Order: sequence, then C-alpha cells, then structure tokens
Amino acid sequence: MSYKSHSHAQWSSRMAFVLAAVGSSVGLGNIWKFPYMTGESGGGAFVLVYLICIFLVGLPMLMSEWLLGRLGQKNPISTMGDITRRLKRSRAWVLIGVAGILGAYLILSFYSVIGGWALAYIQMAVVDTFSELNNDSVGTLFGNLLASPVELLLWHSLFMIMTIGVVVGGVAGGLERAAKTLMPALAVLLVLLVGYAATTGAFAEGAAYLFTPDFSKITRDGILAALGHAFFTLSLGMGIMMAYGSYLSDDVNIGRSALIVVVMDTVIALLAGLAIFPIVFANGLDAAAGPGLIFQTLPLAFGNMAGGWLFGLLFFVLLVFAAWTSAISLLEPLVEWIEERSPLSRVGSTIVAGLATWALGLATVLSFNVWGDFAPLGMFDKFAGMTLFDLLDYVTSKLLLPLTGLATVLFVGWFMGRDELRSQLNMSDGAFALWRVAVRFIAPIGVVIVFISSL
Ligand code: TRP
Repeated sequence: MSYKSHSHAQWSSRMAFVLAAVGSSVGLGNIWKFPYMTGESGGGAFVLVYLICIFLVGLPMLMSEWLLGRLGQKNPISTMGDITRRLKRSRAWVLIGVAGILGAYLILSFYSVIGGWALAYIQMAVVDTFSELNNDSVGTLFGNLLASPVELLLWHSLFMIMTIGVVVGGVAGGLERAAKTLMPALAVLLVLLVGYAATTGAFAEGAAYLFTPDFSKITRDGILAALGHAFFTLSLGMGIMMAYGSYLSDDVNIGRSALIVVVMDTVIALLAGLAIFPIVFANGLDAAAGPGLIFQTLPLAFGNMAGGWLFGLLFFVLLVFAAWTSAISLLEPLVEWIEERSPLSRVGSTIVAGLATWALGLATVLSFNVWGDFAPLGMFDKFAGMTLFDLLDYVTSKLLLPLTGLATVLFVGWFMGRDELRSQLNMSDGAFALWRVAVRFIAPIGVVIVFISSL
C-alpha cells in the first residue's frame, strides 16, 4: 500500500490504522483487568509502576513492533524470518512469532469467558436486575453466574461465535466503522460514570487510592504484574501489533501514532479506575475482590441512578464492543498461521482456530465452579491455590508477554542497524536517541530486573 501525500485517502487510512490499533488495545484489559489488579496490588504504587512501565517500556516497544512489521510486510513468523535472513541473524528470533501465536491463543481462551460475563450483564440490565441490588445481593448475583458452568459456557460460546463471525466474514471494515463511534461513546459513558462516582461521597478517597503511592503495599509480584499488564493492555508481545504494522504505509509517523494509542489506552484505564473505586469505598465493598470487581460494583451504581438500567445496558454493550474488537485481534494470528500452513481456506482456518480456542475456554469456565479447588501446580508454593484460569493468566501476562517483549527489544536494539531504524522513524534526532536508549537499555534492563526479582 502506498498513498499520495496530502490526499484525503492518506489521512483516512492513517486514522483507520490508529483506530484499529486502539480497538485492539482498549478492551477488557482497561476496564476489567486494570481496576481489579490495582485493587489486588494495593492501589497508587501499582498505578505509578504501571504508568512508568507503559511509557518507558510499552511505548518504545509498540514502536519496535510496528517498525518490524512495516519492514517485513508479512505475518509475524514470516516477518521475523525475512528480516533475520536479510540481516544474517539467527533464525531463533523467529520464536518471537511462534510465542506470539501461542500466547494469543491462550489469552483469547479466557478473554472470551470474561467477554461472556459482560454479555450476561447485558441481559441482566435488559430485565432490570440492577434496580433492586444492595451490597450483598450484588455479590450473590455475580456468584450465581460463576457457579453455573452451563450459563458461563453459553455466554462464552456466544462471545466466540461473535468473534469467529467477524473474522470469517471479513466484516472487519464494518466493525471498524462502528468502533469509530462506539469507542468514543465508551469514553463518554466512562466520564459520566466518573461523574456519578463524584456524587457518592467517596470520590476523594477513590482518587487518593489510585494516585497516592504507598510503596509499603506493593510486592515484587505486584511490580511484575504492572509490567505484564503494560504489555497486555497495549496488545504487545504477541506479534499482533507487528501484524498491524505490516499494513502500514511508509509515510505514517510511527512515533506519533504510538503516542496516541498509548495515551488513549491509559486514559480509558484511569477513567475506569476513577469510576470504580469511589463506588467501592462508598458502599464498603472490597477493593481486592479480584476478577469480579467491576461486576460487583458498577451494577450497584446503575441500580442507584435515575435511568440506571439504561446506563447499565449501554455500559455493558460498549464493554462487549471493546472486548470484541480486541478478541478479533487475538484470533487473527492463529487463523493466519493455520491458513498458511494447511490446505484449509480462510473460513475453514477461522472455524478450526475458533473451535480450538472455545475448547480451551472450557478450562476457564470450569475454574470458577466445578474445578474451583483444582490447583494443577499446587505442589509448588508459588502456584498454591491457582486455578487453571489463574495459571493461564499468569503464564501469559507474567511470562510470555514480558519474555517475547524482551526478545523483541533486544533484537531491535542490538541486532538491527541504526540507519535502518532511523529511516523507519521520522522523528527528531533527540526523540530518536531517546527511543533508542529506551529500547537498548531501559526496557531490557527493566524487564530483566523485574523478572529476576520476582522469581
Ligand atoms: N489489549 C487488549 C485489552 O486490553 C487485549 C489484547 C488484544 C491483547 N490483543 C492482545 C493482549 C495481544 C495481549 C496481546 O483488553
């Protein structure tokens, strides 16, 4: 693809690219995962570490993935294959692409189950379940959903069908167009929720919880969690952003586009936190409630607001949308790989990839009920009490994402020539030098230190 400069087409495709990247990055990670991890890891200190990781590691890393993709112009495995061949580097770097496909598969298997929770809450909003809720029953409502494998399975299946449907039908264009209005709508709704949170009387407490770092409360594992989440929320370390970069024309400014994506992603996460914690404190709920946090707090707020059922409905619809656009990007790498490696058509590959993901999702579905006490690695202290869902989350966010991320920045920082990189990044010399320091030193050293100290 190439665009004439100053034409309208160029602007709109640059927009489309940034939107697609925002669609992938803004998802359950921002609204579901970020608040509950903050609550589990003690608040402000976690948020500060997370912000540092986002800007010092995530941003330079996002730029690295995009420029690799733009140089290679193929799927992540072939891209790494081509670039290593051309630069006469070890073929082992191709493992970055392999780890990416595996990681995206593992993530989507549980991501879809959580997307299913959001679908279930749409239904609850429609039948106006929220208006009678109190502090206790909001927990029971969520508990009942988790306790029913059949219900979880149905919603997980529906979410997978929606994801497969888009990837098969190639209606991504339509979805992208929808995302153009729905993503801003989500932001507006979050701002409204923050407005509501301001009326609960605990807004200052909630804001202080998020923004006043108390370093006695953060553990080494919390720091690793912040790092892993920086990768998760920006869709890094899985070759996905690399694949997006492969469709990128040469005149798009990678640095500026990356900054837009990172800022939008961060703002959405912080808004979610500002909406949720005041409600938690005002109602005497538990900030460390874990993965159920937003599902056990926001319905209370909707129940108390005038017209709350409508806001509730809108919120969960938009949440599903954000999750959907991310899920599509998670299914894509596996589909692409099956399509290239097998005689299957695009449709066949998508169905096989989707079914395989759906099947692994059963492990997560059962983790919340029948297999709730099943800790496969329980014999190791570190994994005591962790269900299959916990392990999937741990292995992807705390191992695979940081390790493939580390490999990517090492490759870009130390195994590629300065001039080649310079030609990809049309930014000022100062900004380029800064980026290179981040990629060569800050990001790799940071990841290694966090990693070693948490083991
Ligand atoms: N970033 C998405 C979110 O925050 C999830 C996601 C989509 C993702 N694609 C990814 C995470 C690739 C890691 C890698 O919800």
